[in-house]
Amino acid sequence: MSPRNFFIGGNWKMNGSVAQVKSLVEGLNSINVPAQTEVVVSPPAIYVDRVRNNLKKDIGVAAQNSYVKASGAFTGEISPEQLKDLGIDWVILGHSERREYFAESDKFVGEKTAHALKAGVNVIACIGEKLEEREANITSEVVTRQLKGVADEIKDWTNVVVAYEPVWAIGTGKVATPEQAEEVHVTLRNWLAANVSKEVAENVRIIYGGSVNAKNAAELATKPNIDGFLVGGASLKADDFNIIVQAR
Ligand code: G3P
Repeated sequence: MSPRNFFIGGNWKMNGSVAQVKSLVEGLNSINVPAQTEVVVSPPAIYVDRVRNNLKKDIGVAAQNSYVKASGAFTGEISPEQLKDLGIDWVILGHSERREYFAESDKFVGEKTAHALKAGVNVIACIGEKLEEREANITSEVVTRQLKGVADEIKDWTNVVVAYEPVWAIGTGKVATPEQAEEVHVTLRNWLAANVSKEVAENVRIIYGGSVNAKNAAELATKPNIDGFLVGGASLKADDFNIIVQAR
């Protein structure tokens, strides 16, 4: 079991309506957040203010993306400064769906991470290999290359959580085994120790995402280098999300 505070993120992705958000927030407001556990939920940008204003304060709120500038002619983008202005303290960056559908490079993810941190917004930085990369046995090369994209742009990791999300496990129901996830988390922690510092490697939370649910969370949580989860589909059901929050 991890020696670090646990971190549970709920990524709602592009899901929700006014009625669904109201119902989900009501369910989340009844969750008892365990000691040494941090819980953050991430609605679509259009709902972050509504969720922040109605969700109890011991559950954080994250945006699902933010830009590299504070303001300006960048139609459709939002800035971390604007998130901070709304009392939103977290942002998910580099999610595989943004890398895939919006061609976000390792460097761009790193630059966005640096800008968010500078604006005082904490970052959940996502990395993860595709199925063909795992089958080609280059998972370590891929995830450490992605992690380097962040490490090249930042110095202070205090407000960064790293989310390892194998693309082949996202939304597929095909969760990584605890051993598969632990192996990659160890690789990432070792990379940080060798390329950033031993202190950062020991303290940064590395969380797992990819078909985490109420049934598999507890077993995954037994691994010493799995410091929590980034949950997609199961975060849209308050009861299931609560079971995951209590999993440790
Ligand atoms: O960011 C979390 C997400 O990518 C995982 O999705 O539905 O497989 O839990 P899901």
